[in-house]
Amino acid sequence: MGTRVPVAIVGAGPAGLLLANLLQREGIESVVLESRSRSEIEATVRAGVLEQGTVDLLKEAGLGERLVREGVVHHGIHLRFDKRTRRIDLSSLTGGRSITLYAQHEVIKDLVAARLRAGRAIEFSVRDVHLRDLEGDSPSVRYRRADGTEAVVECDFIAGCDGYHGVSRNSIPARSRVEHTRAYPFGWFGILVEAPLASEELIYACHDRGFALVSTRSPSLQRLYFQCDPADSVEAWPDARIWDELHTRLETDDGWTFQEGRITQKNIVAMRSFVCETMRHGRLFLAGDAAHIVPPTGAKGLNLAVADVRRLAAALAEHYASGRDAALDRYATDALRRVWRCEHFSWWMTSMLHRFPGEDSFHRHLQVSQLEYLTQSKAAATALAENYVGLPWDWTNDNGGGLQ
Ligand code: FAD
Ligand code: DHB
Repeated sequence: MGTRVPVAIVGAGPAGLLLANLLQREGIESVVLESRSRSEIEATVRAGVLEQGTVDLLKEAGLGERLVREGVVHHGIHLRFDKRTRRIDLSSLTGGRSITLYAQHEVIKDLVAARLRAGRAIEFSVRDVHLRDLEGDSPSVRYRRADGTEAVVECDFIAGCDGYHGVSRNSIPARSRVEHTRAYPFGWFGILVEAPLASEELIYACHDRGFALVSTRSPSLQRLYFQCDPADSVEAWPDARIWDELHTRLETDDGWTFQEGRITQKNIVAMRSFVCETMRHGRLFLAGDAAHIVPPTGAKGLNLAVADVRRLAAALAEHYASGRDAALDRYATDALRRVWRCEHFSWWMTSMLHRFPGEDSFHRHLQVSQLEYLTQSKAAATALAENYVGLPWDWTNDNGGGLQ
């Protein structure tokens, strides 16, 4: 059976769910198709750092009630190298901006709840999703429902929000797609630990044995990461080996230490930079990880997905309110400015903080010099801070944006 809606959204990650909610507020109906179940998407542990702009947007859209109650505002981060820790005061360097620690799957739960509260469905556990007629006036999405029946949605626009491994990007003919990619020779090993806070603020550590990161989820649940071989397996890392490695990489010369606890989850993430410049093809618009990937070091992926969707929702709202397509026509060009800024920042943070196989002493000295400069020069620290808390939405406009 076919249905018709203005916008078909493929993927119920942060990008797809936020877009559905923002469109709903503009009175624009959509369907959301998701290949996983509700319990799976609400349980997948991923990002934790929300930029100031992301928090403000969720609040303005009436989606931030629990985030405001349970999220923890951080005003600084720590850089640790040569066994010493230096604080970057994010707020004083950016005119009072901050970041909020609130887990991605909690954002997902809030967005799903808001969508369902508004009486709109999300189709979970769909399969065999195919996008059709992208270059015509009436594209469609064919898929198989959880119960095995076939379905088709006809629409005016398709939003491809199905992440890096989704079908949307690859529905654009290869000859029309312009892509750029960089793989890194390491991955991140992530753990969730039942333990008290190791640090009030995040610690990014650069050690001779590799990068480590101390983050948090709640006063009793901590999130830690360390650089590993991308071909490593979780089984190769029994708890004792993990603790040894983390203690070594996080050690300081003032005796700082942290409490171990029960590890409740272990996972390995590959590191990649990727941009598909073709963020629009006919009536298909890509947003979030479907169009670009950053290595997680700068904590930008989710926030960049939010920035895309904010832009796309506004452009679609203009189309339906006035029939004007100028913002839709500019979508890819404008979104890519922020994408490339975040790509650079994430690549730069990654390059500065990780060990590269085969790197020489020259490379190592450059890293340490960069870290020293960052922690001693206000100008250098400001460059890190304003990117980390998130540049204003309109920072590339000549007549707007710009931190004081
Ligand atoms: P996704 O979250 O990937 O959502 C896509 C959805 O589409 C998924 O639910 C998927 O099941 C669904 N889907 C896939 N294929 C189909 C299909 N064929 N049909 C229907 N549905 C489909 N970002 C930050 O900003 N801050 C951080 O601190 C941070 N830390 C991170 C730490 C780690 C370890 C990792 C792995 C990532 C981190 N990120 C971080 C990145 C962030 O998690 C992603 O950028 C974010 O999830 C992108 O959202 P999205 O909605 O674009 O894509
Ligand atoms: C977290 C993830 C990141 O990629 C990062 O840079 C900081 C924190 C986290 O999961 O808490």
